[in-house]
Amino acid sequence: MPKNYLSINDISKEELENLLDRSAQLKADLKNGADQSNLLKGKSVGMIFEKPSLRTRISFEVGIRQLGAFPIVLSAQEIMMGGRETRQDVSRVMSQYLDMVMIRTFGHDVVEEFATHSDIPVINGLTDLEHPCQTLADLLTIKEHYGSFEGLKIAYIGDGNNTVRSLMLACTKLGVHISVACPLKFEPGKEFESEFTHVCHGVGTAAEGADVIYTDVWSSMGQEKEAQERKQIFSGYQVNTNLLEEFAKETAIVLHCLPAHRGEEITAEALKDHETTILRQAENRLHTQKAVMLHLLGA
Ligand code: CP
Ligand code: NVA
Repeated sequence: MPKNYLSINDISKEELENLLDRSAQLKADLKNGADQSNLLKGKSVGMIFEKPSLRTRISFEVGIRQLGAFPIVLSAQEIMMGGRETRQDVSRVMSQYLDMVMIRTFGHDVVEEFATHSDIPVINGLTDLEHPCQTLADLLTIKEHYGSFEGLKIAYIGDGNNTVRSLMLACTKLGVHISVACPLKFEPGKEFESEFTHVCHGVGTAAEGADVIYTDVWSSMGQEKEAQERKQIFSGYQVNTNLLEEFAKETAIVLHCLPAHRGEEITAEALKDHETTILRQAENRLHTQKAVMLHLLGA
């Protein structure tokens, strides 16, 4: 059975820590001009995108090339998985040509079914349930800033979505406290909660004394039809200067996985004030995903 990275739950605490260390090393080596193209030399990595992407698409493709491997990007329309042919057949055929595959799609069951039939590692590049690649970049960014996770409090303000679910699982693994403020009925789900997580409905409660304030869009990809209704429901769940000044630590950093909707989950001002960290968070997708690919292929 190949190793997969469909969920944060697919890796142990030790593997998570090793992935972060390796990401930092790969980043430093790259900045020092190291040639990393021998690490996955001659391998081929497929990517299936059934939803739009900027960061995931580019950071995976660039990362694959930097490691000496060959990327093949496939859109939903090209392969029509589940329509033109079954997921099982697509998975089994792709295993014949490729060494690894990354999938961005809607239902988490799609990546799970694909992985069941795959002879090669499968990476979750975002599903409606989880976004485990994003979490690694988030954690690396936090670690770079604070040096360690010791004693930190993370606050997430907004929808209990894929991004925060993966972050909660990772915080639980690492023993980091995370407080989530979301509207009633938009909670991440009990199965993502633990002694290290706190889910509430008040932004002040979540943000109080936080070292990291994190937010993501109110409507995720696939929820476009609900966007207007969600704007009403989420209107109090915004990261803005007032929230930061009133509740977070003065030294707090702000994270956003991007894309951002200014004036909704975050104000233009708050985004601007923290853009250096948020852009580093986006950059870190590259380094962390390279570490994931090397880990899955045992390289
Ligand atoms: N954060 C993130 O996954 O961005 P993309 O949707 O652009 O890939
Ligand atoms: N929660 C967002 C994340 C985008 C990177 C979405 O799923 O659209």
